[in-house]
This record gives sequence, structure tokens and C-alpha cells, in this order.
Amino acid sequence: MEPAQKERTPFADIDGLTAQMSEIVLDALTEMGRHSEIRRVRRVAFDKLRPAAGQCLLDAGSGAGDVARLLATEIGPRGEVIALDHSASVTAAAVRRHDGSNVRYVTGDICRMDLPGDCVDGVWCERVLQHVDDADRAIAELIRVTRPGGRICLVDTDWASLAFDGMPAGLGEVVMAHARGHLTPRRFDMGRTLRRRLVAAGLSGVSATPVTCFFADPESAAVVLPMVNPRVPEETWGTPPGVRDEWLACVEAAGASGTFLAVLTIWVVAGTVTTG
Ligand SMILES: C[S@@+](CC[C@H](N)C(=O)[O-])C[C@H]1O[C@@H](n2cnc3c(N)ncnc32)[C@H](O)[C@@H]1O
Repeated sequence: MEPAQKERTPFADIDGLTAQMSEIVLDALTEMGRHSEIRRVRRVAFDKLRPAAGQCLLDAGSGAGDVARLLATEIGPRGEVIALDHSASVTAAAVRRHDGSNVRYVTGDICRMDLPGDCVDGVWCERVLQHVDDADRAIAELIRVTRPGGRICLVDTDWASLAFDGMPAGLGEVVMAHARGHLTPRRFDMGRTLRRRLVAAGLSGVSATPVTCFFADPESAAVVLPMVNPRVPEETWGTPPGVRDEWLACVEAAGASGTFLAVLTIWVVAGTVTTG
């Protein structure tokens, strides 16, 4: 049985957030798309998905739609990208950013999509499965809508790989222990589980690529790591009183002295859907 994600990160239920947190999350999605390390992860994923002209692709859990629009440039005017996200506010933000490419924005849950079987040639699903309660059910749904021979590319974080240097290790451990289920999902290891999940689901030619993201200063890290982002309000952290401020002071000091370091592995895992 999977650990329940109900007590979970802001990304699991963006529409249920306060206006302040909703704004932070939307800004985070935009900034992440511009971050050089996330772009590096996405280049690996593009190579694995191999989008081609005329294809119909699904971006499952598409957020602000940045990747969907990039995919649309690859598939050209004869293709279509379905950008699906279960948050109405995120989908509305994605529609506001629409650039006229062949992207269709829809709201829906990747665990039960209102799409016919075998309707897409490929799926991109980036940093979404860590937020759902049943990742295998979501993967089965992604397979259902993909035609035999189509590609599925999953990208997800391995929060257990997160490591820091330059700050007190003990304090970092306290922060991470309390952040679990608040700033990160309860499920800490989604990235490394993707390969086994796709193999078990019967995909062929499954490849798995760990991409280790390196952050050499707190500002760069804060885009991807909420636990070094001073904009994230105290009530979201789940840490005992004073711990967040003490930790953020250490982060700032390490940044000022040039000794801050953080690393996080994000996995890119892809495979081909076989004939049912
Ligand atoms: C960390 S964001 C990633 C967004 C986008 N894939 C990207 O990489 O920029 C996670 C997204 O997954 C969406 N999401 C979470 N659970 C979902 C579900 N069950 N079905 C569809 N979307 C979901 C959230 O609304 C959010 O937009």
C-alpha cells in the first residue's frame, strides 16, 4: 500500500491554497521552467520521448503549460498537444500564456482521464506522480490512452537524494524530517521507483536516467527547493517554532560566504507501450 499523499505538498491541491500560496506556486512553476538545471532535465526527457511532427501528445499534469508549448513546436501544425492538469487556476494561468500553438488545455485527474483509449502517440508527465495517491493507477491510465508503440516519459524527483553542504547537518535533518508531507510529498522516493513501475506495467525498452541537479547558491536553489525559499510562509513548513528561521539564517550565511551547496536527483524514465 502506498503512503497516502493526502497530507501533502501545495502542488497536490493548488486550487485549495490561500491566494498567497497559490501565487508562490504559480511563480515557482514559471521560474522552474527557466532554471538551467530543470532545462537540463527536460533536454534529457525530450531525447527520450522523441516527439515527431504530426503526433498527438499528452502533457499530463502540465502546470503552466511551458512544456506543452515546447512540445507543440516539435509536433508542428498537423499535431496536437493536450495539456491536462487538475488545477483550474493553473490551467487558467496556462491559457493566459498561450502562444497560438496547437495546445488544447483541459482540466482533469491523471488517475481517471476523460480521454478515449489509444488516443495519443506519447505522454510527458513531469513531477506529478510524487503528488498523487496511487502512482501505479496513474501510470495505468497513461498507458490506456497511449497507442501501442507510443512512448511514455516520466520525470520525477527523488527527495531522499537531497543533500546540503555548508549548513549544520543536524539542523538540516530536523528541517527535512518536518518538511516531509508539507514542503515535500510524504513519498520521498518517487523518482527512483519509476523504472520498476514501468517495467512492471509491461512497457518495453525502459530506460532510466538520473540527472543530478546542482545548486551553488541559495537563490538558484530556492527556485526548486522550497526548504531554502524564504518566501514560503512559516505555517507551511511543519517545523517546530524557530527552526525555519534558524535554518534560513544558516542558508543565507552559507550563501554570503560562497559555501552553500545543494544537490537533488531528478529521474527521467521512458519506455514504449506494447500491444495490449
Ligand atoms: C510540480 S507541478 C509540475 C507541473 C509541470 N509538469 C511542470 O513540470 O512544470 C505538479 C502539477 O501536477 C498537477 N497535479 C497534481 N496532481 C494531479 C492529478 N492527480 N492530475 C492532474 N494533475 C495533477 C498540479 O496541479 C501541478 O500543476
